Amino acid sequence: MERLQKVISNSGYCSRRKAEELIKNGKVRVNDVIVTEMGHKVSGNDKILIDGKMLSYDEKEYYLLYKPRGIITSTKDEKNRKTVVDLIKTDKRIYPVGRLDYDTSGIIILTNDGKLTNLLIHPRNEIDKVYIAKIKGILTKEEIFKLTNGVIIDGVKTSKSKVKLKKIDKKNLTSIVEITIHEGRNHQVKKMFEAVNHEVVKLKREKFDFLDLTGLKSGEYRKLNTKEVKKLYNSVNKISSN
Ligand code: URA
Repeated sequence: MERLQKVISNSGYCSRRKAEELIKNGKVRVNDVIVTEMGHKVSGNDKILIDGKMLSYDEKEYYLLYKPRGIITSTKDEKNRKTVVDLIKTDKRIYPVGRLDYDTSGIIILTNDGKLTNLLIHPRNEIDKVYIAKIKGILTKEEIFKLTNGVIIDGVKTSKSKVKLKKIDKKNLTSIVEITIHEGRNHQVKKMFEAVNHEVVKLKREKFDFLDLTGLKSGEYRKLNTKEVKKLYNSVNKISSN
């Protein structure tokens, strides 16, 4: 038996908070009875209707995509541009876990597993994401120190990151920098470099936790295996119990 709001959010229908709202607002029926009580427990045999529609538990699918530049991280685009979902052949309603900008390439996970998605994008999560940034200018030791210890973006300090200067091009005045962060704020890497007066001209995400792009070319994808999915669940285990 599990709490109703957890069952709804785990199905991928919506977040836990949204599920609680739906329950509070009398939108959820269990075995044809409206339930507004928050701790209500249900089992797999209970019929759950939200706004009159049966809650479905799709078989879960997990993909790792090498997102090319020039693709939207979304399920739909109002301007009809290609999205990351368009690159994957499936009849399931999958969606991306987090975001990469239109002009950022690299690793992104797509799934219809709402529970794992909510855990992986939870603000308290500590999932390491490794980016390679090509920036304008030569990054100094002081700037590396600032980036490592946190810079202010949108009025809030970023948490600690790891920064490695990989290469400098003194002729063209550019640097290649590896930066590892575990937050997922909007345009975070670009804004962090902006905070130390460097423009990011190219950005690629090379790692998401233990996963990388080995064996994939830009635009290609593969399914995650059971072991990898379990390992991702283990990575966020700390917060999965509530
Ligand atoms: N940080 C950015 O600025 N852009 C991305 O796409 C990802 C992280």
